[in-house]
Amino acid sequence: MSIHIDPRLTTGTISPYLHGQFIEFLGECIDQGLWVGTDSIIPNTDGIRTDALKALKALKPPLLRWPGGCYADTYHWRQGVGPRNQRPVGYNENFGTYQPDGHGFGTDEFLRLCQAVGAEPWINVNMLSGSVAEMRDWMEYCNRPSGTAMSAMRASNGHPSPYGVKFWGLGNEPWAGGGTMTPSMYADRYRMFASAMPTFAENGDQPPMIRPIACGPDGNKPMERVRWTRDFFQALAQYRQPPIAAYDLHFYNWNIDHTDDTSTQFDQDGWDRVIRGALELGEVIDQQWNLIQACLATMPHPESTMDSRLTRVDLVMGEWGNWHGDAFTARPALRQQVTMRDALTSALTLDILQSRCDKVSMACNAQTLNVLNSLILTEDDATILTPNYDVFMMYRCHQGARAIQSLPEADNPSLHVFASVKDGHIMADLVNADMASAAEATLTLPEPVRPAGMQSLSAQDPHACNTRSDPDQVRARQVDVSDIPEGREITVRLDPASVNVLDLAMV
Ligand code: AHR
Repeated sequence: MSIHIDPRLTTGTISPYLHGQFIEFLGECIDQGLWVGTDSIIPNTDGIRTDALKALKALKPPLLRWPGGCYADTYHWRQGVGPRNQRPVGYNENFGTYQPDGHGFGTDEFLRLCQAVGAEPWINVNMLSGSVAEMRDWMEYCNRPSGTAMSAMRASNGHPSPYGVKFWGLGNEPWAGGGTMTPSMYADRYRMFASAMPTFAENGDQPPMIRPIACGPDGNKPMERVRWTRDFFQALAQYRQPPIAAYDLHFYNWNIDHTDDTSTQFDQDGWDRVIRGALELGEVIDQQWNLIQACLATMPHPESTMDSRLTRVDLVMGEWGNWHGDAFTARPALRQQVTMRDALTSALTLDILQSRCDKVSMACNAQTLNVLNSLILTEDDATILTPNYDVFMMYRCHQGARAIQSLPEADNPSLHVFASVKDGHIMADLVNADMASAAEATLTLPEPVRPAGMQSLSAQDPHACNTRSDPDQVRARQVDVSDIPEGREITVRLDPASVNVLDLAMV
């Protein structure tokens, strides 16, 4: 297989926000996972599990979405601010969580976490059981510099300076758990909430740009995703256009119809099905992007929005990840192990997103800890980094780089390649999706390059995963490429079921 990579042919800049994460009050993602509270015997930093914090600080996820998900539509932010021992206890039933919800990890805890790990926050507003007034107060609490009741409340809770939250999602999956709305019902509600958002303009200064995010379709349903997008934008176009900065597609790789196929037990068919499922995303993005452009062409001029800087609607993906046969029966809710199968689909998903960086500007893996496609699993006091953690670490080199058009010239359907260029280096992702056989990849380039390093993630057995007793069974390693001579043709060997990032220095 030879792949031609021409670093002069680029398609766009890869937004770091494509490597975002999603945390929600489900199972043990937040409570008992990331958040153990200050009284816990588990080592913590102001209530956050210290080992998990350390791992997130090392990763620096550029974007964190919170508090849901479906949970967002029952979340009342006031219950999660102020002295923790006075916060009301609610009950969380979402996806079989079935736990009291003490609201220990609220707005200040979340935004401080974002600051600590270097992430931009994306807050999802309760559009189902919440109100416009509640949303406005939340935004005021987060962003108004001073002189108001909400800014004073924030200051008295220990944070005098505003947090400057820019990304605000309105509703979550309104076509399902978020209200079983029709596109026009959602458009009406979206219109009301989005047009009531404060701009934070003061004294004629250019205000920080607030980016309202509309909820897009269920990316897994071919007919419904077309109808939702078309009908939603048509409904918005009927009258004065509310501000809309981004449109949030959710895309899950459903592998739940085969109950014998769990997160750790699968055969060749299960492997193929899950790899194929992840690869469908490319087509879904292209279709949604084209549809959005066609819809926008019929909408009133952007000057009818409240902020004239919002001149385009980005496609974003607030949730993506694998669901396996054991997700629904798992306790804690939605906890899955992460094998090389998931590591490969995470890598392929990131490659699809990166290669479409001209269309997609943000994406969040669902979810960071203990839920579905996790990067981190916790078990009592143990914190285990999954192979997905390594994939995100390995792929950080693409943040801010230019995506290169790559042209496969020969046929190996199991080999997937993506490359970007930055600071005189071409970084090539080489994913060998063959579960059992090694592969060779030959890259051809217009000018000579020098192999400067290669990171590889693979395991003896593709079912391998990291556990409390064997936390580093699957770990990325450096491959010695110093014996590969520089030139315009570079050949590397790839393990079966492996994710590889090859660094080529331009000479
Ligand atoms: O990520 C788990 C759940 O999946 C989210 O809460 C919901 O938005 C989606 O259906």
